[in-house]
Amino acid sequence: MCGIVGFIGRKPAAPLLLEGLSKLEYRGYDSAGIALVGEKGIEIYKSKGRLQILRDKIQDGKDLPQTVGIGHTRWATHGKPSDENSHPHQSNDGNFAVVHNGIIENYAGLKKELQAEGFTFLSETDTEVVAHLLQKYYKGDFMLAVRQTVARLEGAYALGILCADFPNQIIAVRRASPLIVGLSQDANFIASDIPAVLSHTRRFLQLEDGEMARLTSGGVELFDADGRLVEKQELKVSWDVDSAEKGGYAHFMIKEIMEQPDVIRKTVSPRLKDGKVVLDGVKLTEEQLRKLKKLYIVACGSAYHVGMVGKYVIEKMTRIPVEVDLSSEFRYRDPIVDKDSLVVIISQSGETADTLEALKNAKAKGARILSIVNVVGSSIARESEDVLYTWAGPEICVATTKAYSTQLAMMYILAAYIAQTLQTVPQAQLDAFLDDLLRLPEQIAEVLKLAPKLQQMAQRYAYLEHAYYIGRNVDYAVSLEASLKLKEISYIHSEAYAAGELKHGPISLIEDGTFVVGLACCERLAEKMLSNVKEVKARGAEVLVVTNDHVKVHADEADHILLVPYTNEMMSGSLEVVVMQMLAYYIALARKCDIDKPRNLAKSVTVE
Ligand code: G6P
Repeated sequence: MCGIVGFIGRKPAAPLLLEGLSKLEYRGYDSAGIALVGEKGIEIYKSKGRLQILRDKIQDGKDLPQTVGIGHTRWATHGKPSDENSHPHQSNDGNFAVVHNGIIENYAGLKKELQAEGFTFLSETDTEVVAHLLQKYYKGDFMLAVRQTVARLEGAYALGILCADFPNQIIAVRRASPLIVGLSQDANFIASDIPAVLSHTRRFLQLEDGEMARLTSGGVELFDADGRLVEKQELKVSWDVDSAEKGGYAHFMIKEIMEQPDVIRKTVSPRLKDGKVVLDGVKLTEEQLRKLKKLYIVACGSAYHVGMVGKYVIEKMTRIPVEVDLSSEFRYRDPIVDKDSLVVIISQSGETADTLEALKNAKAKGARILSIVNVVGSSIARESEDVLYTWAGPEICVATTKAYSTQLAMMYILAAYIAQTLQTVPQAQLDAFLDDLLRLPEQIAEVLKLAPKLQQMAQRYAYLEHAYYIGRNVDYAVSLEASLKLKEISYIHSEAYAAGELKHGPISLIEDGTFVVGLACCERLAEKMLSNVKEVKARGAEVLVVTNDHVKVHADEADHILLVPYTNEMMSGSLEVVVMQMLAYYIALARKCDIDKPRNLAKSVTVE
């Protein structure tokens, strides 16, 4: 996730900007840069790679005297990590420098317009349009140019802006991306996150959507979107840096769980336009889709579990057979793929060794590769013909939560895209599916309200030795992930079974007090699922059922019943999994486990 800092005061800005950027490193980044403004105009220093490369390039900034500047760590979205794509970006006339966090959704149209007017683009980023729009609208009034520029932007942004004509000002503005203003006696700051400047001040102003801040060394003024002055109460922070990085949460895992409504919105909304799925940049043609005899989904770990959900959803929506494979198996089994096969690769990191090899193997056989990846410019993204990015931002906790959820959302988008292209479902059904997809973020936000209840329940289950998860269809696919979450972070032995398989073995493990979670959101199969629940309950199991109000579960059929909002059965997993993530988290918390870094596990498995 990109990080922004800005400093305006009496001391040289560069060392302070570098220090602030180093505090934002935890957010993940692939390049860094700063812009300084002084009497001689704007100077920009930036480079791909670690912050140390930039530090070395400018000798820690010790010979740069300017006292006003902005800095940025970039997490690539539009355009690969490179020096050119690093921020800050400058207007053609050199009068403006911009750092940006977020995604400008309408950048392609704006870029075309600006190019037609003679502006030259030096990067592949969405951000560069902002610098050129500022030049276009600037007639001597810095603030007015910023207001006119942001009025043209769609999507999410936090912007820090310098103007050479106003060397004693920084203007910052935000919509849907975080930005705070730090206040101190002889300096003022902007930052994406409090830790960036916490060693200099504990006094902050939080910008709301659409608000703008004008910083000088002497003070800060806030304005609303119409340019009216806004008065605001200062926020006094008493946390330490460590908890501030986690946004006040105890662990990155719970912070990332809570971010899910937001990242799903970011993943979904740019791809749904005027009631249609639009996959910018995907070159897969209708003819290629028509020829498909089979679609393969290949991935590891939780990404494989996403594929398991994807199978149900894509087959139901498109009637194309889907085979889901573990990368480590696929690569060694001489898979039957050819030029008429589509192989969908799912990977958060884009670097998982087995998945990358599976991709190369399928590609060598002529298959078309579409990957669903979170890290822009990663190896898997580079090797793929088509890439769909999940805009989850960097995930720091080893056990995935928000990346998994955005990958699930991509499965729905892909299924709907194929169904729309091949017209495999009636239009009304497709419209309803897309409406449900747009509703998911707010429904997940509802589910997150179950946190206190789950924390309470977790006290009871903290000392479990075994747990079993059962479900049917999508509920079964999600129970695989639910079970993995628990075992990864709490070290409790857990297994997931298709509920219909209970009688073929696992039921022999059920005895008094055995913990069983039944996922039962699929209305169509509810009766069958509840019979399975009764079977384990009759053998002494303690059962938690997660369902919705379309399924009738009697109070005596389960020990605990948790309701999630109703959505179509294909998407209900996106709600169930959030309950399961929180349950696993709070159980691990009660067991005092090292939640963000579970023993023996790695975030990115780059060896076989
Ligand atoms: C590791 C991570 C998992 C992840 C899996 C696949 O095991 O801990 O969270 O699902 O790798 O990683 P990928 O980056 O390919 O999604």
